[in-house]
This record gives sequence, C-alpha cells and structure tokens, in this order.
Amino acid sequence: MIDAKHRPEDTTKSDKVEQNDSIFDTTQSSDPSSHVLSTNKPKMTITDTDIVSTSILFFAAGYETTATILSFLLYLLALNENCQQKLYEEVNGQTVKNETNSYDNLTKLSYLEACIAETLRLYTPVSLLGRTASEDYTIGNTGITVEKGTTIIIPIHALHHSPDYFPEPKQYRPERFLPENRDKIIPYTYLPFGAGPRNCVGMRFALMEAKAVVARMVIKYEFIRTANTKVPLQYVSKSSIPRPTDFTVGVHYRSKIG
Ligand code: HEM
Repeated sequence: MIDAKHRPEDTTKSDKVEQNDSIFDTTQSSDPSSHVLSTNKPKMTITDTDIVSTSILFFAAGYETTATILSFLLYLLALNENCQQKLYEEVNGQTVKNETNSYDNLTKLSYLEACIAETLRLYTPVSLLGRTASEDYTIGNTGITVEKGTTIIIPIHALHHSPDYFPEPKQYRPERFLPENRDKIIPYTYLPFGAGPRNCVGMRFALMEAKAVVARMVIKYEFIRTANTKVPLQYVSKSSIPRPTDFTVGVHYRSKIG
C-alpha cells in the first residue's frame, strides 16, 4: 500500500477499460501480464487514511476469524476422539516420512484439510453475507426480480446447518470434505469464505496458517474433554463472530514426541 501511495496516478486509461477490470481477474485470465496492468495503474490515489483503515480491516478480518476457527477446531477434536486420533496418525505419518511440515507436505494432508473445512461449516466465523444489486436482476425463470439497490442477505450459518445440504448437520464429520466426498456438496451451500469477485482475499493464507498450527499442535499435544469443558457452548451476545463464554479443554503432552 505504501508503494501504491507513491505511485503516480494513472490518467491514461479510459473509464471503459477500468470498468472492465474483471477481465483482468487473475483467477480467470491466463495472461499474467494482464494482472500487472490492472494493479500497476491505479485509478485513484491512496491516502494515509486508506492505508490505516485497510490495515485495521486486515486485522479484524484476518486475525479474529483464524484465531476463532483454531479454537473451535481444538474444542471439536477434544470432543471427537476418533477424529483426533485419525488426524494425529495422518500428520504423524507425513511428518515421520518427510521430517518437516513444509508447505508441500501440509497440502497433502487431506484429513487435516477436512477437519478444518468441517469446523468452518459448523462454526463459520462469518454467519451471513450481504450483496446489494447494482441493477434490476431477475433470478432465472423464477419470476423474482431483485430491484436495483436492494440488499440480499445470504445466510451462511443456516445453509451450513441445513439437513437438506449436510445430513445430520450437528455432527462433526470431517469425512464430508474428503476428496472422494467433495462432489456431493451442492455448489454455494458451503460458503465460509464467501464467493464471487469479493470473496475472502485471505482464504489461502488462512487455510495454510490453520494447517501449519494444527499440524504442529496435534503432533505434540492431545486435546481432551474435562469436567470443565462446556457442552454445549454458550456465547457472548452482541459479538459479530461466535465467541464462547468459556472454551476450556484439557491438554496432554504426548511424551513420546520430541
Ligand atoms: C478462517 C479465516 C477466515 C474466514 C472464515 C474469512 C471469511 C471471510 C468472508 C466470509 C468474507 C466475505 C466474502 C464475501 O463477501 O463473499 C471475507 C472477506 C475478507 N477477508 Fe476473510 N476470512 C478469513 C481470514 C482472512 C484473512 C487471514 C485475511 C487477511 C489476511 C482476510 C481478509 C479479508 C478481507 C480483506 C476481506 C474483504 C474482501 C473484499 O471485500 O473484497 N480474511 N472473509
């Protein structure tokens, strides 16, 4: 952002080209230089206020979300011993084989990924999304027209807990997200990071961060339910992301691991 602030304002491109920035979307374009074109020539200047507010957004959007999901995951592992054992065996096997938890190794741990995905389903930090129609839009052949300016709420939490999409939705079942089962998930019913051009920019970073933390923790510690572990959890009211009043789980050191 500091680099962008000192970059001269680009006045050479017409608005028409700027409005079509989506054609330069790196997820769709195979031409890497097109991305450089759209980011190197910002239309507007960036102020100190923009930098500070964007930095705060990154802390708010990036820190609490990931910390929350890690806490829920350890809590769920404490309650679901079989899942924890399976996860431990996967991580332990991979670590012993490859010695380190490198980026490449972490991407191979499909049960770890499934445990994180299932935690994000049950305890999605962002429970709903909003989208405002920029023009009148008729949904397929339903006859329903969303008028320009109308805000639609997408209830992520409700979708994730619907038995229509996730059988026995209250059960923690990482298997739902194993590679062989993923095609059973109906598109747009699972939205922990949102969807479309304004989805979470930190998704890949958050997933990698969570994998690295959990892999290191389950290899050294075992998480257990104690008399003080609250089931079900109770929540602090007026919190934008789910915040339990008490998240206590027991921790055992796995002595055989160095
Ligand atoms: C488990 C962790 C996370 C979850 C569940 C999460 C979830 C979300 C969701 C649901 C949205 C709204 C997407 C939409 O409207 O379609 C969002 C947006 C955003 N997230 Fe995340 N996020 C996480 C981690 C992060 C991290 C680590 C960062 C930054 C380092 C981050 C930065 C952002 C930003 C900047 C936006 C706004 C994007 C925009 O409006 O264009 N998030 N996130």
